[in-house]
Amino acid sequence: IPVDPFDLVLFGATGDLAQRKILPGLYHRFEVGQMPEDARIIGTARSDMDDDGFRAQVRKSMKEFAPSFKKDVLDRFLARVEYVPVDALGENGWDKLAKSLRPDVVRAFYLSVGPKLFPGIAQRLHDHGLATPDSRIVVEKPFGHDLASAKALNEGLRACFEEHQIYRIDHYLGKETVQNLMALRFANSLFEPLWNATHVDHVQITVAETVGVEGRGAYYDQSGAMRDMVQNHLVQLLCLTAMEPPSTFSPNAVRNEKVKVIEALEPVASTDIARGQYRADKGGDGYVDHVGNPDSLTESYIALKVRVGNWRWAGVPFYLRTGKRLRARESEIAVFFRDPPHTIFPNVGPLHGNVLVIRLQPDEGITLRTTIKDPGPGGFRLTDVALDMSFAEALGADVRAQDAYERLVMDVIRGDQTLFMRGDEVEAAWAWVDPIIKGWEERGDRPSLYDQGSSGPEDALMLMHRDGRRWRQIG
Ligand code: BG6
Repeated sequence: IPVDPFDLVLFGATGDLAQRKILPGLYHRFEVGQMPEDARIIGTARSDMDDDGFRAQVRKSMKEFAPSFKKDVLDRFLARVEYVPVDALGENGWDKLAKSLRPDVVRAFYLSVGPKLFPGIAQRLHDHGLATPDSRIVVEKPFGHDLASAKALNEGLRACFEEHQIYRIDHYLGKETVQNLMALRFANSLFEPLWNATHVDHVQITVAETVGVEGRGAYYDQSGAMRDMVQNHLVQLLCLTAMEPPSTFSPNAVRNEKVKVIEALEPVASTDIARGQYRADKGGDGYVDHVGNPDSLTESYIALKVRVGNWRWAGVPFYLRTGKRLRARESEIAVFFRDPPHTIFPNVGPLHGNVLVIRLQPDEGITLRTTIKDPGPGGFRLTDVALDMSFAEALGADVRAQDAYERLVMDVIRGDQTLFMRGDEVEAAWAWVDPIIKGWEERGDRPSLYDQGSSGPEDALMLMHRDGRRWRQIG
């Protein structure tokens, strides 16, 4: 179903994210007919370029990031693309931009720029009369560096826009399987009765990456895995796993429940944290070389044991881990159910609890570890098998998976904030994260080194072993 006609102004249009994700995403929505023929995308950046110069750049990016494009469709798409040079923090270009916008269509301003620019751009959109009561403003992460800076950003945005106009992106919420987690929990009756401390032993949330800091050293070294991944993506995954059923699938009902989870997160003891940094490869570089800071104490890996202090989850640890340069790219949420309380099958094989694994990437799907009778010879023995549902197989491998950005940008145009973070949610996440970081900074903790291509530092293994549990294997 096509969305309403719109003018989307893309700040930072020549930047990496715009070229790699946002513009290709819009192209794909155009190709399937969701972006109407009279929609317009107005790229802006400081570079002096005309429409054709920008179109040529987008065409080039498309070859790299959307290589399956159809030439005639791309030509029609590019006819919808324009460019206005704008000085984000000066006064040049704003009036021209204002004149180019249509009064009677949905208006969205996508700030694909560093957070320092958010308040200044919001102010100019307001002062030059570009922002209407119905227009939307979209901002990317990082949304602040700590609670104080996040509050300042919120204040800067709210000085010019209402909360219902502000779309804070966490692209993990746009991932297919992340939304499927909500469908799994709230569109089935099988799981909900078991989804609590009585039946769940613990939960493991893993986001493992094979990439390193990839030319983003200056940003990353100031952030580390805790700010870059945990404060946003992993906390979001935790929220969707732990939240109470909202009364409706509406933006505020869902976000109210997520905020309650974040507010229930308990402080994390220093002994429940394992931080790591990838060391130099044989003959190659390590983290400190990649970020150009030989004294860096920043973590490229972190594992935490987290508790959600509420009735449903009392005593159930949530183990979170994420890191770069690990053995495999693998993201999943694994819910470990308790072992059966009594066995009538002594000495005939493993008797484990069931494990429900929601695989986010790659190969999205759901598996349920189940114990069955081993069909082999040798009498009655038990074995574990996985009931495995790969979405690609179940739903047809030829359906191109929608990228998170495609879905999220269309939600902006539709005016649906369900998959975007509300201001209080971001602040609550920082309020939980800040003291954890402050703790290790004050103690001067050093991250332990781990090998590239491994599954992380020893300390992270110990964090589990100590509790008599094991991480699921990466790769
Ligand atoms: C970004 C982080 O938000 O998410 C990156 O800044 C990280 O460091 C990326 O690599 C991971 O996203 P995805 O979609 O590839 O899992």
